[in-house]
Amino acid sequence: MENTALTDRFGRRHDYLRISLTERCNLRCVYCMPAEGIVLRPRDQFMRTEEVLAIARTFTDMGVKKIRLTGGEPLVRKDAAHIIRDLGRLPVELAITTNGVLVDEFVGVFQEAGLRAVNVSLDSLRADRMRSISRRDPFARTTANIRLLQEEGFHVKVNMVVMRGINDDEVTDFMEWSRHEPVHVRFIEYMPFNGNRWEWGKGVSEAEILARATERFGASGYERLTDRPNDTARNYRLTGGAGTFAIISSVTNPFCGTCNRIRLTADGKLKNCLFGRTETDLLAELRSGRDIRPLISASVLKKQAVRGGMDSFEKLSDPALHGANRSMVAIGG
Ligand code: 5AD
Ligand code: SF4
Repeated sequence: MENTALTDRFGRRHDYLRISLTERCNLRCVYCMPAEGIVLRPRDQFMRTEEVLAIARTFTDMGVKKIRLTGGEPLVRKDAAHIIRDLGRLPVELAITTNGVLVDEFVGVFQEAGLRAVNVSLDSLRADRMRSISRRDPFARTTANIRLLQEEGFHVKVNMVVMRGINDDEVTDFMEWSRHEPVHVRFIEYMPFNGNRWEWGKGVSEAEILARATERFGASGYERLTDRPNDTARNYRLTGGAGTFAIISSVTNPFCGTCNRIRLTADGKLKNCLFGRTETDLLAELRSGRDIRPLISASVLKKQAVRGGMDSFEKLSDPALHGANRSMVAIGG
């Protein structure tokens, strides 16, 4: 019998869970972390190792087929290796999103756990720019680790948040990179979250990114690829490209109709949407000894059709609405 416990009012089946392991990060990216930082709370408000595993197991029992670990930076958590190894024993495809800085210390653990897909955030191909965007100096280690992952045969995607006047002049350089190396670059439209001083003037649209590709490579210099069923990105390849590039257009062209994702925050709250402002406290329920499955199903049934109810550009732009969401560092992307 088909498992419908994770199906919402719009018939979307949620078989992809993103788990944030921590709100802490070894970088301070401007689009993610508020300049003043976020308030660090006592440890007991966050999921312990066994709690992450118990909640993950419940989700796989309910039909989740893929788990991605996020943060903050997931690899700064002391028990990250333990969690990755144990999740590797569940019947799921395991993946991770990381800023890449600590990856060299985890390659063996990824291999042991059968984790093959790694998304690395890299917003510039220049060390000095990475310093100003991340307020730290990750460039040398992150790029060396991207190479290491490629050599070890991992599927590597590189996430670039495109920001006007900051790194948008590098969009076609990233595309050119995907011609020579088997890297999958994803350009992400700059999205509004609490505290990231968003204004769309700082963003660059999907249409503009494509116009720049056409300007540099010609309309026949790249081709549109077929996307996979739940892709959040529209995929392309430069002629003769070893890799691909893609655009994630959550602002100008959302892809909510095929959404299959739900999110668990590091403090054990279920978010049915990246942009959703309502949260369901699974950790408290688990700690009180109750079955968390009814809360999970109820949360999925409350999911809105588009961007947590922000179904127009005007609503998304309204600070009263997107400001009521968390900061990205506390959601996990
Ligand atoms: N807009 C778009 N993408 C963002 N990310 C973090 N904050 C934002 C934002 N405001 C991306 C990071 C990371 C992924 C998890 O989310 O680049 O790769
Ligand atoms: Fe899914 Fe929400 Fe993202 Fe839309 S905005 S794709 S509904 S998580």
